[in-house]
Amino acid sequence: MNLKGRDFLTLKDFTPEEIEYLIDLAADLKDKKKKGVPMDVHRGKNIALIFEKSSTRTRCAFEVAASDLGMGSTYLGPTGSQIGTKESIADTARVLCRMYEGIEYRGYGQEIVEELAKYSDVPVWNGLTNEYHPTQMLADMLTIKEHFGKLKGLKLAYLGDARYNMGNSYMVVCSKLGIDYVVCTNKAYFPNEELVAQCREYAEASGAQITLTEDIDAVAGADIVCTDVWVSMGEPDEVWEERIKAFTPYKVTKDVMKKAGPNAIFLHCLPSFHDVKTKIGQDIYERFGIADMEVTDEVFESGQSKVFDEAENRMHTIKAVIYATLGEK
Ligand code: CP
Ligand code: NVA
Repeated sequence: MNLKGRDFLTLKDFTPEEIEYLIDLAADLKDKKKKGVPMDVHRGKNIALIFEKSSTRTRCAFEVAASDLGMGSTYLGPTGSQIGTKESIADTARVLCRMYEGIEYRGYGQEIVEELAKYSDVPVWNGLTNEYHPTQMLADMLTIKEHFGKLKGLKLAYLGDARYNMGNSYMVVCSKLGIDYVVCTNKAYFPNEELVAQCREYAEASGAQITLTEDIDAVAGADIVCTDVWVSMGEPDEVWEERIKAFTPYKVTKDVMKKAGPNAIFLHCLPSFHDVKTKIGQDIYERFGIADMEVTDEVFESGQSKVFDEAENRMHTIKAVIYATLGEK
């Protein structure tokens, strides 16, 4: 498998074999890291990390992965660079690719990361856009494979905002890898029809089923129950009220996990509102009187929750993407 020189913008661009290869490569790199095997094979190279939105996991994963591979990294945060204010994406791409061997972008529309890739002659990696979060999918799939020993034939239920980056990305990866994908949510938040049609084609080839329903009982028998925040980065504060109304019936509670079954696991990309120990969590509690949102603290802290394995796997999978697209050594 040779992914050298490839961009990593959405998993729509990758075959099931390429996606599985990256997951297995990440497992191997994880094993090497645990055993202390040095992997600083990209010494002398550097990567640029553009973040137009906040991040803990993705930024740290890219920085640690780069360091483990022997590379330098430069963080360009939401303020302090010329990007977007004085310099276009096309010009930024043409500057950065003269100095760096790879560029990560986190921000708004998918068309921005695509523009960056178009004007850059080094690999560009999507660290989250409004539409997709492909590095997160590799981490989730690695976590699932570690837990169940396989991917194909499993059933993944997603509750909440199914028309944004996490919901879209799950639908793509599940349909490509032969995992049954069930969306349980208010129908105003179903994914867009064009993407559903595209994923139904992937599903036909992989043998997966895609189900979109408002019926919470459809989580029955799910191996994996997933959710995400109800309001994503960059969305206006005014939408909280309508989201709380639309998604409260789809909160991941103990009852929902019981419907899925005792062997089901819970995943969440994080950060998550499962208590009031954050500024926004506290603010929502004061405004709406709710002490949790997309998942209860009980489920989040339960043995079924694998969210911190998932968070760790961000680093190993991002390392695999960098390693493979810069050319394995
Ligand atoms: N899951 C995820 O992308 O987390 P960050 O926003 O902290 O990077
Ligand atoms: N949907 C969330 C994912 C965060 C990792 C957001 O875009 O804010």
